[in-house]
Amino acid sequence: MVTQPDVTLDKLFHNNREWADSMVKQDPDFFKKLVAQQSPEYLWIGCSDSRVPANEIVNLQPGELFVHRNVANVVVHTDLNCLSVLQFAIDVLGIKHVIVCGHYGCSGVHAALVGKRIGLADNWLHHVHDVCQKHERYLGEVLPTREKLNRLCELNVIEQVANVCQTTIVRDAWERGQLLTIHSWIYSLEDGLLRDLGVTVNGPDQLADKLRESFARYEDYCPT
Ligand code: CO
Repeated sequence: MVTQPDVTLDKLFHNNREWADSMVKQDPDFFKKLVAQQSPEYLWIGCSDSRVPANEIVNLQPGELFVHRNVANVVVHTDLNCLSVLQFAIDVLGIKHVIVCGHYGCSGVHAALVGKRIGLADNWLHHVHDVCQKHERYLGEVLPTREKLNRLCELNVIEQVANVCQTTIVRDAWERGQLLTIHSWIYSLEDGLLRDLGVTVNGPDQLADKLRESFARYEDYCPT
């Protein structure tokens, strides 16, 4: 017998009720305070991958993390969606940190690396393919695909940090003296841990040096 699909997704409503109850049990004013204001200090730009839930992996509560996620955590200069999130976070919420967080084993990055056709998303992932071509020498022809993929996941984060730094939104914020730091992080699905890739930028003059330092670390992998 074919079972009927759960058209109302009762389980999710049930989970939601349990979650809301547990929050109120911990703090009876929790939702009252959230309604009054949100004051996150961090903007998270991460991958849409369901295994990388932003709030959970840094153990932050609702109200503490402003989030933008897309396939392969890409920041494109003409993406009005991402730019609007960035602008709102910086100009209106006054967040202090932008965290670009990739993850190892990213399917989007993998598709860009091996040229796998997905569909419409191929056009989006072409931005990652550009990163791949730009840094071909760091990806090592003889490396197994898995290692190459993980290296491209890192390089993609670093390039997206550069893109964030180059937006008019971030440049204007630094110009007017707003304290704002951009971070390059990567998450491992295998152990649930975050790693800082070291491109941490809090002013307009630092980006070039930080990128040079960071890419120098990949020189070891280059063919001689
Ligand atoms: Co991903």
